[in-house]
Amino acid sequence: LNVFLFTGGYTGESVISYRTAETFKKHLDKGKYRVITIDIKRDGWNAFVAEKPAEFNHEICQVRSGDTTYTADVALIALHGPPGENGWLQGYLEMRSIPFTTGSTLCMSLSFNKKFSIDIASKNGIKTADSVLLTHPKKVDYTRLQSRFAYPLFVKPNDSGSSLGISKVKKPEDLQKAVELAFSEGKEVMVEELLTGTEVTCGVYRSLDKLIALPPTEIRSHNEFFDFNAKYNHASDEITPAEISDEATTNVQEAAKKIYNIFNCKGVIRVDFMVSEEGTPYLIELNTVPGMSGESIVPQQLNTAGIPFTEMLDDIIDEALA
Ligand code: DAL
Ligand code: MG
Repeated sequence: LNVFLFTGGYTGESVISYRTAETFKKHLDKGKYRVITIDIKRDGWNAFVAEKPAEFNHEICQVRSGDTTYTADVALIALHGPPGENGWLQGYLEMRSIPFTTGSTLCMSLSFNKKFSIDIASKNGIKTADSVLLTHPKKVDYTRLQSRFAYPLFVKPNDSGSSLGISKVKKPEDLQKAVELAFSEGKEVMVEELLTGTEVTCGVYRSLDKLIALPPTEIRSHNEFFDFNAKYNHASDEITPAEISDEATTNVQEAAKKIYNIFNCKGVIRVDFMVSEEGTPYLIELNTVPGMSGESIVPQQLNTAGIPFTEMLDDIIDEALA
């Protein structure tokens, strides 16, 4: 089978996308799959067959190397942030009738929008923090925000990953700067009440017809929160399985599977929660293309569960082709 491995992307997360793609390449069963890499950059898409540059034909999603033409049997998406995690690439693949390893265009656009996804989850019985969406940098009503939220609070771009542009704001004087920073990273900004408790994250994917929730990981950041540096430069302790009660673990796994179903996800996702003292998970966000770098969490969870990475890749490719 020809697997078109899509990587790269338009944001600061592209460095992580390349690492995810490397992990996928390393673990794909070479006896079953031929890997053709498509590196998406703002200024063009570049194809590689056996690491050598090849010609890519956009219109029909075909790659040519020498005299050989390759068409995609399945697209494996290793691309965090736009355009691989927000529905754009999925729209292209749907137009070309190419099966792929993530949720649909709709699933990906809704879930990449932090405010929409939290509101949809909340309507479906998942606990979430109170939040407000800011849609225009010049129309922010700071007086209203100051009266609605206590400090510290979080300010996040509404549509980006790996914690880029996120601030934990401790005092009113710092709010405007944080909002401006978040607007530099995204078109919309979400202001959110601070959740307290234990931060955990849980991978979910489908094997045959069964949803599998992996052992949750507990995050203990050495920084103020689990920011980019904590995520990829080892400034955090990640403990798998999380040191929370069995009941809280079950609550997290059930909530993660419920969220997978609410958004009609496909492939592997990772859901981040804050677990309250009573053991109730509050949704922070869902990641529909979770990182798979050496530092990333889902590989650690698969390892703890004793599931070979290659087997998980087989499962998500089979699901895409089903
Ligand atoms: N957005 C990063 C890659 C993650 O969720 O792992
Ligand atoms: Mg994320």
